[in-house]
Amino acid sequence: MTDARTVFDRHLPDQLPTPQPATAYAPSNIALSKYWGKRDKALNLPLNSSLSISLRDWGSTTRISPSSTDEVWFQDRLLPADDPFADKVLRFANRFRRDQMMPLKIETSNTIPTAAGLASSASGFAALTMALVQAFQLDLPDDTVSMFARLGSGSATRSLWHGFARWERGHANDGTDSFARPLEVRWPAFRIAIIPVDTGPKSHSSRDGMNHTVATSPLFGAWPAQAESDCTAIQNAVQDQNFQTLGQLAEANALAMHATMLAARPALSYLKPESWQVLETLWTARHEGLAAFATMDAGANVKLILEASSAADVKAIFPQSRLIAPFDPL
Ligand code: DP6
Repeated sequence: MTDARTVFDRHLPDQLPTPQPATAYAPSNIALSKYWGKRDKALNLPLNSSLSISLRDWGSTTRISPSSTDEVWFQDRLLPADDPFADKVLRFANRFRRDQMMPLKIETSNTIPTAAGLASSASGFAALTMALVQAFQLDLPDDTVSMFARLGSGSATRSLWHGFARWERGHANDGTDSFARPLEVRWPAFRIAIIPVDTGPKSHSSRDGMNHTVATSPLFGAWPAQAESDCTAIQNAVQDQNFQTLGQLAEANALAMHATMLAARPALSYLKPESWQVLETLWTARHEGLAAFATMDAGANVKLILEASSAADVKAIFPQSRLIAPFDPL
């Protein structure tokens, strides 16, 4: 069986050059067609392909510089060595350094408003991967950089670009064909509205949540094939810029993912009563003509998909929403 070390060994020179200062930015992303369930936990290999939209200015910046000892900073604060975030970052850096003594100062800052309640492991691992690749002057194709980011967190594989990206599940056991690529689609009117419901830390990580669902949910058996066909249909709707079809499919895909979790034993529910209230309000408004659809991830917040022409209506119905324009206006 291939492990992550073997994957890195295959793509990195035996001896890395002295690290250079490097800075990278990666946007966070929201899946319109979800990744939920791994066929290989060590390599973060998914059971189905997924498709996302990046959140442009909401993301992570990582700066790397050579140092005399390892230091991890988050939002301008030096983290203690036993901090779980610092540990995760350094363990990922070790994938590159392997046994070579190359102490680094790694500084990460997020531009995602805390009040939006969005996790940032996708943008965090994508920015960290890109900064490490630059710091060690590695001349690697995007496919490989995306694959490296996947080894940090699955959804990070889609966070290397702005706009839409599709993560192909791949079939190889070592995951060399499981990475994301950007879609050549510009959709200036496309908008995301984040409706914060609960901004505290989530009760279960997505990693634990998906593993528990795969292991115990009798409904999970139907998910991989459905999710794969949703992903292709959603990609077609994005390419055709067919908003109604895209919205209907994305909302149905998100609810199907949550249904697999509700059927897990014991049940797993990231959605709170307030999330369902937002959905009820949305469904009523849609019945009355509002063109907006919902998607939800491993947390209670609801994200809406809409076009610029519905932005004022969405703001009137959900005054707490934060609007994001993923593309530059024309
Ligand atoms: C519900 O990428 O956070 O947001 O690979 O274990 O790090 P790991 O999981 P993660 O899971 C994201 C799950 C999701 C759906 C999605 O982004 O596709």
